Amino acid sequence: MAPQSQLKILISHDEIAKAVNRLANEIKRDYQGKKPLLIGVLKGSFVFMADLIRQLDLPLELEFIKLSSYGSAKESSGKVRVVQGLKTRIKGRDVLVVEDIVDTGITTSFLLDYLRKKKPASLKLCALTHKPSRRKVPVYIDYLGFTVPDKFIVGYGIDCDEKFRNLPDIYTIED
Ligand code: IMP
Ligand code: MG
Repeated sequence: MAPQSQLKILISHDEIAKAVNRLANEIKRDYQGKKPLLIGVLKGSFVFMADLIRQLDLPLELEFIKLSSYGSAKESSGKVRVVQGLKTRIKGRDVLVVEDIVDTGITTSFLLDYLRKKKPASLKLCALTHKPSRRKVPVYIDYLGFTVPDKFIVGYGIDCDEKFRNLPDIYTIED
């Protein structure tokens, strides 16, 4: 982040809360009678995950997976690795992946392929944000919070070089 960069508010905490509520209602409706396993992608999804699950009165379980793809703070290297894997078997489970942002789609599409090979009963994706203008690999998002412009965003768990995850709102970084 250049020294003269500034944060500009993009999505307020109120708007985020409304979107989380809407997504939770969609998920509750679709997973009635099921025991979904939510898999959060670390670290960016942890704040979203914490808010989302508290709106879901379903007998759900939680897992986290850590992937690495970023060469530098802002650009994906395009090579994805599993840095911290799952502790739970997902075979036969109804799996819902929870992502902070789908940008080029490389990370998410790698993860969905990786999980699909483990034969879950169903596999869906919930993403808080996506940047369709940057997409390189097609990714179908079952539950989407916000479409965001082609700008780097931070806050609400999302970082730039590990900073700004603690901001309650989502901001763009303006150079
Ligand atoms: P993708 O593989 O390009 O779709 O990138 C996915 C991951 O890159 C996300 O899960 C984020 O961790 C990170 N990322 C992409 N865009 C942004 C951004 O605007 N701000 C912060 N992290 C981002
Ligand atoms: Mg990140």
